[in-house]
Amino acid sequence: MTAHDFPSAHVADHAGMEIILVGDSLAMVAMGMDDTSEVLLDEMILHCKSVARASKGAFTVGDLPMGSYEISPEQALASAIRVIKEGRVKAVKLEGGKDMAPTIAKITGAGIPVLAHIGLTPQRQNALGGFRVQGKTTSSAVKFLEDALAVQEAGAFATVVEAVPAEVAELVTKKLSIPTIGIGAGSGCSGQVLVQVDMLGNFPPGRFLPKFVKKFGNVWEESLRAIEQYKAEVKSRAYPSPEHTYLMPKEVFEEFARAVKDRE
Ligand code: KIV
Repeated sequence: MTAHDFPSAHVADHAGMEIILVGDSLAMVAMGMDDTSEVLLDEMILHCKSVARASKGAFTVGDLPMGSYEISPEQALASAIRVIKEGRVKAVKLEGGKDMAPTIAKITGAGIPVLAHIGLTPQRQNALGGFRVQGKTTSSAVKFLEDALAVQEAGAFATVVEAVPAEVAELVTKKLSIPTIGIGAGSGCSGQVLVQVDMLGNFPPGRFLPKFVKKFGNVWEESLRAIEQYKAEVKSRAYPSPEHTYLMPKEVFEEFARAVKDRE
């Protein structure tokens, strides 16, 4: 499950999530950006810190944002060290398959666990022609398998598999010795991940949601109801009622009222 701040990590941890991911989906669902390419490493670290404080049982993973790891394995390791040291999470995630194998090896070689991310890699959406399902043809499914084997060989402890046909994801999962964590990749993966804000229904009807998202809640409706009720009760002065108010003994107040009067 993803989490982007203290409350969302707190509830995910309480619900028994085994892994909490501070995904760079943060950019779109928590910061209102158009895509994930805009979020900065410093911003990711800030959110990792909040999530880490709430995660008592879950293993925490922080995303390396676009621009913080592609230049060289050395740049990636420096970024990963910051995410661990400053962000206080336990592992990092980065997007890419075969091409990122030397980078994954560099980071894991320094003792930092890496969660890989293959299939649809949203940071590369411009090169992929948008958010498109990957591995739909024989050649792209073979490329997907090669990416999976490469990230496993490089030392990733697991890999996210995003937007891949279920049959392909299931067969590749069987070929791997590391777990696959699917998102839009069917039920044949070893585990699943969803963006918490999406699966809780935090946004109003009409906002685009990928086909694979199931809304398990309706936080938007409940939040709207509560805030509208708050507004109505403030306007009508029903809130705050005595139970939500600090009161003082009558005689003390009367003394205070006299002191105010004496000043007139
Ligand atoms: O950024 C994110 O939240 C992710 C998950 C969707 C896997 O990468």
